[in-house]
Parts: sequence; structure tokens; C-alpha cells
Amino acid sequence: MVHLGPKKPPSRKGSMADVPRDLLEQISQLETLFTIDTQKLNIIVDHFIKELEKGLSKEGGSIPMIPTWVMTMPDGKEKGTYLALDMGGTNLRVCEVELLGNRDFDITQSKYHMPPEMKTGSSEQLWDYIADCLQAFLQSHHPNGAGEELSLGFTFSYPCSQTAIHNGVLQRWTKGFDIDNVEGHDVQPMLEAALKRKNVPITVTALINDTTGTMVASNYTDPETQMGVIFGTGCNAAYFDVVKNIPKLEGLIDLDPETPMAINCEWGAFDNEHVVLPRTKYDVQIDEDSPRPNQQAFEKMIAGLYLGEIHRLVMLDLHEQGFIFENQNVEGLKKSYSIDASLLSQIEEDPFENLTEVEDLFMSRFSIQTTEPERKLLRRLAELIGTRSARLSAAGVAAICKKMGIEKCHVGADGSVFNKYPHFQERGAQALADIFGWKDIPPADHPIKVQPAEDGSGVGAALIAALTLKRMKEGLPVGMKPEIIEKLALEHK
Ligand code: BGC
Repeated sequence: MVHLGPKKPPSRKGSMADVPRDLLEQISQLETLFTIDTQKLNIIVDHFIKELEKGLSKEGGSIPMIPTWVMTMPDGKEKGTYLALDMGGTNLRVCEVELLGNRDFDITQSKYHMPPEMKTGSSEQLWDYIADCLQAFLQSHHPNGAGEELSLGFTFSYPCSQTAIHNGVLQRWTKGFDIDNVEGHDVQPMLEAALKRKNVPITVTALINDTTGTMVASNYTDPETQMGVIFGTGCNAAYFDVVKNIPKLEGLIDLDPETPMAINCEWGAFDNEHVVLPRTKYDVQIDEDSPRPNQQAFEKMIAGLYLGEIHRLVMLDLHEQGFIFENQNVEGLKKSYSIDASLLSQIEEDPFENLTEVEDLFMSRFSIQTTEPERKLLRRLAELIGTRSARLSAAGVAAICKKMGIEKCHVGADGSVFNKYPHFQERGAQALADIFGWKDIPPADHPIKVQPAEDGSGVGAALIAALTLKRMKEGLPVGMKPEIIEKLALEHK
């Protein structure tokens, strides 16, 4: 795949000359609230590096920095057929991946809609549903039986503490999930029990975060990839560290200090103690009204789940203060999370000078008649929210590179915000250039490039299952020693 790299962020055409003074003042206040200049960005990066290190230390910090037990990058020669399961927010995806041994693969997949009520339903319902989907997949793709028990790479993209590659105790739900009796439990036995109940011949070989899968899949096709990031409903990153840099593993493993170890950062939790991120009152409100207040501070300013909600809260606030939508019924805007990031994308992408597409959108979706100056404010607001998200995301990438002394690499990125939000990639690249001072380097030649990833939860999960089985065959560790795992499990009880 040829990546030309992002272009420069566009300078917005469209004049503000006809915008009345009171609205201009509001726009200027919003600009102050939401803009993160380079100086502030560098302060955030410096603090981020310290927090990444703290997460790896014995005392720990807000960022979980979870050792994933993925200890090898693929060499491209991996072969075999593996199943991959991805539990996303809206869909369950099951894939059968055939690794072809030449950095190439074939993939067959099916998607199963995940009923929204399942996000807050019961644990049994969740595992039974997943087992049913896997069974349905096998029945349609292997009607005569799969032969032997199949190995599954399970992409479960929530913070899980791992004592070995195949297990993970859910620390806490994120992205609006709130299912009882899963937090604090190992998810692998729960899924395997459901598979057993239903006689589905599948073993969970590896439990994987989407970021780790993304990194490994991208590295498979592009060996310059050293990091995997997701900017979607949630946000997070994985990278390779080495055991000697992970003091919290001391005494728990017996590995050469130079052994590589993929770390699932769970950086959505960065700055949960609110030291450095410039939160607005809207961010505070989102946090307070969320199912998990005081958690995922960074994610709540960046990720797709929250971008539309931030826009909605600002609009309502400006309306209540009498600045916009005068004499309009704004009932349609009152439902929490009724606006998602795709609406902001549409606002930003309206090609017309007088923003008639935004006008139609607000009329059809919310029965609100907007004026042209109001629409200009709404567009500026979308730009500000989208730009802040991209710049903060870049701060995370820069922090990992600086911590690891990486001056040149590719970063595999996936997720709806990265792939679909207008100008996200260019704005992120600009922020990296600001942080690293790449003034005269065109974006296509930036030494650190964040670029579209390979399919992490399909190919990445299959590769990790393959790498795990290979390590096991060679007698190499894929987790802590069994006696330590047992001891930790007892302490946990
Ligand atoms: C989760 C991470 C995940 C990220 C992107 C976050 O909410 O905690 O595990 O990698 O979303 O999906």
C-alpha cells in the first residue's frame, strides 16, 4: 500500500464579516476554550511521558500500561487458519483468517448486530450471545464441522489486567458499556463456559486489545510500524517496550530484561486527576453524567463517542444564554448523546459558503431553523472540537515516541474518527510537526507518520493467536509462571 501522507490542514474559506458582534464574541470565547497551542501541547506531552512511566512502575498510576504478553512481532512467515472475534460497540465481527506465510492473508467474515440494550444488560446474556454468533459462523462456514478445535484470537477492547496472553480481568467498562458482574472478573473463562454450554469447538488462545492487534497487523504488512492506535468510539495506543523498563513485573516473571513486551497503554485514563488537560465545563459535565465519572479523562475529550455530545452541550448552553436559536424549539437537542461525531463531520464538510446543507440538516433532524451566522458558529465549533481531538491524540503519540526515543516510525491507526472525521489526519500530522518542530518538512516526509492500519481485530488477532501457539510449541512463556498466577488469583479473591 502506498501512503502519500496527510496534506496540510485546510484553511477554511468563508467570511465571518456578516456575523454579528455578539456571536463573534462567542466564537472567540469558544476558540480560547478549545484551542490547544503548541506550548500547551508540549506541556501535555511532558506530563504524558511521566504518566506512561508511572503506569509501568511498581506504585502504578492512572494510565494502566498493561503488559499484554505479546512478545514477538510477526516475521511475515506465519501460516495457518485462525478465528478472530471482535466485540465492538455496535457489532460483533467473526472472522476466519488464513495467514499465507508471505505477509499476506485471506479473510472471511460475518458481522452480527449487537442489540444496544446488551451494553447495559446481564453478563450471561452477553456471553451467550457471543457464543451463539460464533456457533452461527461455524455453521455457515463449516457446515460439515471444522475438523479440529479452532483457535480464537478474541479482541476485547476494554482495560483488562493480564497475567497471561489468553486471560484478562476487566478493570472497568469504558465506551458507555455497563454490564454487571464482569468488572473484576477474568473474561476468558466466562466466554469459554458459554462455548462449552453450547458445544462450540473453539479455544480462546489469546485475549487482545484492538490497539495491540492493530500494531501487530500493521507491522505484518509494514515492518516500520512500531505503534498501534485507535481513534474511534474510544481511544488508546499500544507499543513495544522491553521488560527492563517495566518495574511492576519485577519478581513476577523470569525473562531476559531485553525481552520485548507489547504494552496496552489504556491511555484514555491519562490525566484522570486533572493536572494538565484544559477541560471545559462541557467536558466536566460529560464526565459527571457518564456511567463512570472520574475515569477516561483523556478519552472523553478525544473519542468519537463524546465529540457530538460536546457539540450538543455547547449549543444548548449558547441557546440558554440567548445567543443562538432564538424562539426555536430545541427539544430535539435535549436528548443526551443524540448527536454523534458523524453530524460534526457533516457540518464540517458542507461545501456551500452559506452552509445550506447544515441548514437542511438542522431542519430535518431537529426542526430548528438556523440563521447563516449561527451556522458559521456551529461549523467553527465543530472545527474546534475536531481539531482539539486530533491535537490531543498527537500528544499521546508524541509522548510514546519520546519516551522510547523513537525518532522515525510508522504508527498504524484505525477507528471511525481517524478514518472518517474530516481533516483529523492532517490536523494530527500538523500537531506532531508542531511538537517536534518539523517546520520545513512536507507532511509526506514526516519522520513519524500516523497512517491507516491493517485490520487489527481480524488479521492482528489471528496473527497473535499464531504467534502464541508458536511460542507455546517452543516452550517459551506466554504469561507469568502458573504458581505466580495462582498466587495473584488467591490474593485477588
Ligand atoms: C478502551 C480500550 C480500547 C479503546 C479503543 C477504550 O475505551 O478502554 O481498551 O483500546 O477504547 O477501542
